[in-house]
Amino acid sequence: MRVGRRETFNCAHRLNNPAWSDEKNKEVFGKCNNNNYHGHNYVLETWVDGAIDPETGYVLDAKILKDIIRKHVTEPFDHRNLNLDVPDFKNLNPTAENIAVVIWNKLRAEIPNQFKLSIRLYETENNIVEYDGQ
Ligand code: NI
Repeated sequence: MRVGRRETFNCAHRLNNPAWSDEKNKEVFGKCNNNNYHGHNYVLETWVDGAIDPETGYVLDAKILKDIIRKHVTEPFDHRNLNLDVPDFKNLNPTAENIAVVIWNKLRAEIPNQFKLSIRLYETENNIVEYDGQ
């Protein structure tokens, strides 16, 4: 059985590889390299796989899942500049892929091990990444 929770957050970011020249960064990242940042309305789906607990009838109480996501992702990320305000991205390019890995690691540390965890991060309606630890 899989249960999911959807949460949203808004962030600014800039894609840039400091090891590259300005020209190469512009060429590879295009508008996403804009010096003054740009924003996205991220949609995060968190999926937990496990057995139904016969006592509660839940796999994992949606409120518990919601509280974990809000405390560890939504609260520290929402309305922030990922590059400047969120220490995880001090030396990590905040692509959707890297954001998903950071989020998954934070959630994995909080969600009990008997549950499989996967996330889907929508950076735009059309750009989506999925991560389950690999
Ligand atoms: Ni972007």
